[in-house]
Amino acid sequence: VRTQVAIVGAGPAGLILSHLLEQSGISSVVIDQRTRTDIESTIRAGILEQGTADLLTEIDPNTRVHSVGQRHDGIELRIHGEPHRIDFPSLVGRSVWLYPQHEALKDLLALRIGAGQDLRFGVTALRVEDADTLRPRVIAQDADGASFEIDADFVVGADGSRSVVRPVVAGASSEGYFREYPFAWFGILCDAPPSADELIYSNSADGFALISQRSAEVQRMYFQCDPATDPNALSEAQIWQALQARVPGTTLVEGPIFQRDVLRFRSFVARELRRGRAALVGDAAHTVPPTGAKGMNLAVADVVILARALDALLTDGDERLIDDYAELASRRIWKAQHFSWWMTSMLHTAPDATDFDRRRQAGELRSVVESEAGRTFIAEAYTGWPFVAA
Ligand code: DHB
Repeated sequence: VRTQVAIVGAGPAGLILSHLLEQSGISSVVIDQRTRTDIESTIRAGILEQGTADLLTEIDPNTRVHSVGQRHDGIELRIHGEPHRIDFPSLVGRSVWLYPQHEALKDLLALRIGAGQDLRFGVTALRVEDADTLRPRVIAQDADGASFEIDADFVVGADGSRSVVRPVVAGASSEGYFREYPFAWFGILCDAPPSADELIYSNSADGFALISQRSAEVQRMYFQCDPATDPNALSEAQIWQALQARVPGTTLVEGPIFQRDVLRFRSFVARELRRGRAALVGDAAHTVPPTGAKGMNLAVADVVILARALDALLTDGDERLIDDYAELASRRIWKAQHFSWWMTSMLHTAPDATDFDRRRQAGELRSVVESEAGRTFIAEAYTGWPFVAA
């Protein structure tokens, strides 16, 4: 197969990139090892920054971000039972949208398939060759085990945290800047109406909980747990007890729990984001801990920067923007890394926390929420910085 850009991964990053490239008259082939049904049913993140929602609206006349998704004008930070609302529009004139990633993916898959995109499911990328030449290749294998090659002018790794493209770009899969955390999230999905109008990020004597939503009928909630926790070890009653204890001030509306999982926390940025004619975007390039809801938004921001650079390179032969890609993307990535780390550290209770640490942490939270400057900082970061720095 011959194309201009070989995109490994049909998540939000890969699909949006294929659209933006097409708008510049650049052809691409997108492959993903999952089936379309898998992609459309995997429950992942839920919050879109204003810029992500705006981009989806701009590129997709049929996006359901404004019908199925819901605008949220604020979040609550709860400190030992005290409610503190961060009001986004009054602070920064922006909002966020609660729109589950798999719903966004249904829209994007329909958009790209409708546009005639060469999009192949059940295809595994085995390796990338000749990234240092003008004709890099992806060696891939289809669902029947037959191998084939995609000859391209550029290869993009949009293939998530176990990226096959990353070793070629960064030197090795694990090559990068890395941090682990001594806690995880116990996440549930349940059939119940919302317990609150907006998301609640709660720091309590018993640790952290996040009360999120999926729809009027389905709710998503998390509480801090030990990373070694077996999700099946707790009864539903124990889960509700753990959640209720961590959100003093709210009586959660309980309902049948139909999914449970334990999410590990990591921060990671690959050592290099581009090498020759190959680049990384999204989770292939970085991982953030979930507090702050940056993951998918960061992937979209990478893609906006890369799409421009590929247009300059492949349409005009201008290498300046692609030479700047890693630097430009990194600036925003490290701001998001900081915000995700900070929200995580400020809201969770470390297993070895002393009384001093807990009191200092409550002081930190209050110093932020009782200050308009502090609330503005959170609102700016949460609703998202501009995609391309001025
Ligand atoms: C959700 C996840 C997050 O990490 C977050 O900060 C907000 C919401 C969610 O899954 O709904």
